[in-house]
Amino acid sequence: MDLYGEVRAAYREFATYAAGASPTLEQWALEVAEDDEVIAWLGGLPPVKRQPNLVFAAARLHGVPAPGPYDGLRGALLGGGGAAIRETILTRATQTNEAGRLATLLPVFASAGEGRPLALIELGASAGLCLLPDRWAYRWRTPDGDRTLGAADEPELVCDVTGPAPLPADRPEIAWRRGLDLDPIDVRDDDRVRWLETLVWPEQHERLARLRAGVALARRDPPPLLRGDLRTDLDALIDQAHREAAGAAVVVCHSAVIMYLDAADRRAFEAAMRERVSAGRCHWVSMEASGVVPGLVAEAPASHLVLALDGEVVGFADQHGRALRWL
Ligand SMILES: C[S@@+](CC[C@H](N)C(=O)[O-])C[C@H]1O[C@@H](n2cnc3c(N)ncnc32)[C@H](O)[C@@H]1O
Repeated sequence: MDLYGEVRAAYREFATYAAGASPTLEQWALEVAEDDEVIAWLGGLPPVKRQPNLVFAAARLHGVPAPGPYDGLRGALLGGGGAAIRETILTRATQTNEAGRLATLLPVFASAGEGRPLALIELGASAGLCLLPDRWAYRWRTPDGDRTLGAADEPELVCDVTGPAPLPADRPEIAWRRGLDLDPIDVRDDDRVRWLETLVWPEQHERLARLRAGVALARRDPPPLLRGDLRTDLDALIDQAHREAAGAAVVVCHSAVIMYLDAADRRAFEAAMRERVSAGRCHWVSMEASGVVPGLVAEAPASHLVLALDGEVVGFADQHGRALRWL
């Protein structure tokens, strides 16, 4: 009997996601799935720590070259470096932050704000890079030509747009902003930024450049981030936004976060958000895979997240923000 059949299956499945995006990680995952010694090494980790993204990033943090051959990974895990890699796996978690999503969120923010300044609350903010919609330049490529915002010397987010997206004529004015996260990342902490960078897949040069540009923008004036739980700490933040940013449209947003909640908490979160919206306490901008928020189900194209405003689906967004399809 194969004790670790599930681990092998997880690595094979990961290889299908990595295909095209990272030939290195695709190859590593396929070879791990067939390598009894490495599979046994992974079996010595707690089950939640055996995930490919975490293991590969930890190995790369300890110098395994990527792009690079599978033997580099294998030698490091099974040789003298294995203990240090194991320690990194046990003490770190996968936690990404993709500022590119802002190019797809901006039209939703504009619809929510209706011309008013925003008081922006991001749930699961990570390092807070999605809290800075006012600091990037934008290039939306539409069938009718490019629409741009911002100056030529500012870092630019590029996004292909189809459908009648309400592309704003100006960047939003952010009157107030706060991020909430179980484990917020301080962009001034070099060690944590290095880990964020290591979580970007080896061949994704564009994502790495965007992450570095986002960190540089954030370091100028880091967005305030609070340590807390979106299940219990949101109402206090909404109250604070109303007190400290009177007249602003309070917008609560989240991207790639609700999947961390279990099924009961997802249902409870959705019900609470719908109640807050109908009570006029805030607008709600959701960017999650289809069905993660149970009532927000739609046939999204592959690798796309569902965009919703106040509980209604408005479009689909490529998970890294490279494309927006408005409904
Ligand atoms: C995949 S990251 C997404 C970060 C960011 N929203 C983005 O789109 O780039 C998910 C974040 O959600 C946070 N998170 C998970 N569960 C949470 C909870 N119950 N309350 C607050 N933050 C949570 C994690 O710590 C992590 O930083």
